[in-house]
Amino acid sequence: MSDDKNETEGAQGPGEDGRRRERVIGTPSPAREKALLAEDDISAPAGVGEQLDEASMKRAERIVATFFLVAFAASVAFIAYFIGWSGRDGGMHGVVRARESNFWLGGTMALSFIAMAVGVTIWVRRLMTSKPIVQERHELAADEETRAAFAQDFLEGAEDSGITKRPLLRRTLLLAAAPLGLAPLVLLRDLGPLPEKRLRHTYWGEAVKKAQAEGKKGVRLVVDGTNKPLRVSDFSSPGGMITVLPEGIEEEVPEEQVLTQNAKAVTILINVPADKFKPAKGRENWHVNGIVAYSKVCTHVGCPAALYEQTTHHILCPCHQSTFDATDAAKVIFGPAARPLPQLPLSVEDGYIVATSDYHEPVGPSFWERG
Ligand code: FES
Repeated sequence: MSDDKNETEGAQGPGEDGRRRERVIGTPSPAREKALLAEDDISAPAGVGEQLDEASMKRAERIVATFFLVAFAASVAFIAYFIGWSGRDGGMHGVVRARESNFWLGGTMALSFIAMAVGVTIWVRRLMTSKPIVQERHELAADEETRAAFAQDFLEGAEDSGITKRPLLRRTLLLAAAPLGLAPLVLLRDLGPLPEKRLRHTYWGEAVKKAQAEGKKGVRLVVDGTNKPLRVSDFSSPGGMITVLPEGIEEEVPEEQVLTQNAKAVTILINVPADKFKPAKGRENWHVNGIVAYSKVCTHVGCPAALYEQTTHHILCPCHQSTFDATDAAKVIFGPAARPLPQLPLSVEDGYIVATSDYHEPVGPSFWERG
């Protein structure tokens, strides 16, 4: 002990050159070092474990209970906000609503946790006795004697905490914790309504039905950006790729749904050289002189598969490099995508390229196939 003390003082005192030596940043201060080394000084922090008189303990108990009640109120506010106010004006959707709900949900949840933590801290510091606890390291599998000692310690701790003899604290603590336990259930509401069949269809299906109801063969393909219907003669050079949509999507879909419907229906049209083209079984008549249509939505996680290599006839998704073979039903030849790009059946009507049905599989990430 005295050696340690001398060593500590030496480190802070004058050096051999007579100048005062500075303490290195990050090392304990002399006072702290002494406290750490002096076994005799091991004691609870000031204020901890002081034996309070009965009146002080009662006051501390009320303070703790108040914090637990604050935690309870904040938890209830969290749930009330989520169920009640978040349901108005379009719920949580939109940047402004999301920011507002994050503020209130985060604020009430944080207040609840903080109040609970403060209450427990005061409880421990003011109402429980405190003494140094030394736990020896032992084998993982404790022997009978150790387990019995643990059980004994546990029971003594429970007794010391007053959880059994202070019903006010026990009940307010349980009250504060109960709504927090329900919070995850409430959050399930954020999962939103089930997608049902909506992910299995695109606007192509609806547009084809309308066209066929008017006695046509199918719906015309229009060029994305210009909305110009596409003739076979406009797209006769092998090697080309163009993005198309169903005719009428801009005019007939409600304005608020146009972006969503466009995103699902967006399609790439590729003119594959006749000598390379390998029509898939059952899809022999889905192309027009080697012109094929595939969904532009990558089947990995939905990026636009928008790059086309004319020499290899590979369709590339720039997000994670999934690569699809345009000559062979857009099968995956590289990358994380798990299935080919869905193919759109094509035909010709009055010289225009038309789609004769919706996609036969869901477009987009593979996940939705299981939805
Ligand atoms: S989204 Fe296309 S490879 Fe990942």
